[in-house]
Amino acid sequence: MGLCSPVCKILRRGKYFVLLFLSLSLLAWIATFSGETVKSAQVSPSTTQTLVKGDSLRDKLTSWTTAPDRLNTPPAKGECPEKSPLLQGAVKLSFESSLKLKDVQSDNKGVTEGEYEPPDCRARQSVAILIPHRSRERHLLYLLHHLHPFLQRQQLHYAIYVIQQAGDATFNRAKLLNIGYLEALKDYSWECFIFHDVDLVPENDHNSYVCDKQPKHLVVGRNATGYKLRYKGYFGGVTAMSKEQFLQVNGFSNIYWGWGGEDDDLRIRVELQKMKIVRPPADVARYTMVFHKRDSGNEINKDRMRLLGRTSQVWRKDGLNSCSYKTLSVERLPLYVNITVDIGKPQS
Ligand code: BGC
Repeated sequence: MGLCSPVCKILRRGKYFVLLFLSLSLLAWIATFSGETVKSAQVSPSTTQTLVKGDSLRDKLTSWTTAPDRLNTPPAKGECPEKSPLLQGAVKLSFESSLKLKDVQSDNKGVTEGEYEPPDCRARQSVAILIPHRSRERHLLYLLHHLHPFLQRQQLHYAIYVIQQAGDATFNRAKLLNIGYLEALKDYSWECFIFHDVDLVPENDHNSYVCDKQPKHLVVGRNATGYKLRYKGYFGGVTAMSKEQFLQVNGFSNIYWGWGGEDDDLRIRVELQKMKIVRPPADVARYTMVFHKRDSGNEINKDRMRLLGRTSQVWRKDGLNSCSYKTLSVERLPLYVNITVDIGKPQS
């Protein structure tokens, strides 16, 4: 007893130390193991499935791993106001000969492949701007320079399409616009189409590039003609029609080659459908026409009066439903989609 008692005391106390040590080690092991499981679940959901068997725990892990996705979803944008707060009214237009395409690009960083969406609100309409074109590069540059900021101030979701007629056959504005409509709808279900001459630049951003319940004529006046409407039924230059309105009239006629008549033909189609052309107020619907001489290949169409006399008989079979062409290229350039087409030539 005398010799055993100090040794036994040590052994007895040691028992408690061993128990304490073992308990602490067990706790540390549990903490380490479970920490690793959660970490791997957060890093890779696929690893999680091999590590975790229990369904409820797997469900929990799924909800942990999907949570960041939900956090990254941007909140839904509210609709843009009916009247954009960015509008400036009548602006002084500039046509600097030193203007370069890269300047227009750097002024319009929010535009991608010709398309733009307002960053802070949901646009009230999605609008495709269609510009028929051949060898008018300078006019196109001036128009893009003014039109992009103009449309952005109107808080629209829009895209600009330039439809280029290949070759040197007589120009056919109307057919190019039909093609623009058909091609743009392959990209997106645009609800509104603006048929836009390349040489007309809008002067006042209260002239809204949106569609109304009726087809809209946006050019009441232009500088070259004293800002007066050319004649009562004038429907040329820049017009706005909804996807459905344009379909209802079977688009433009395809048989107007050269200058003139195709816009009058569209007016007749609109009237045949009992639609009524509306216009913005004259002080707003003002345009500057960039001066040019008549292009070669776009001579006055002397046959236009005869064709206009037949519109009511032929509109059902001459239009969008009979528009044949060959797409040569679709280039998605920074400021517009450039569609080059072979549209054939007038039939003799
Ligand atoms: C032509 C139209 C043109 C208008 C105004 C009419 O004679 O037929 O195509 O837009 O004149 O210039």
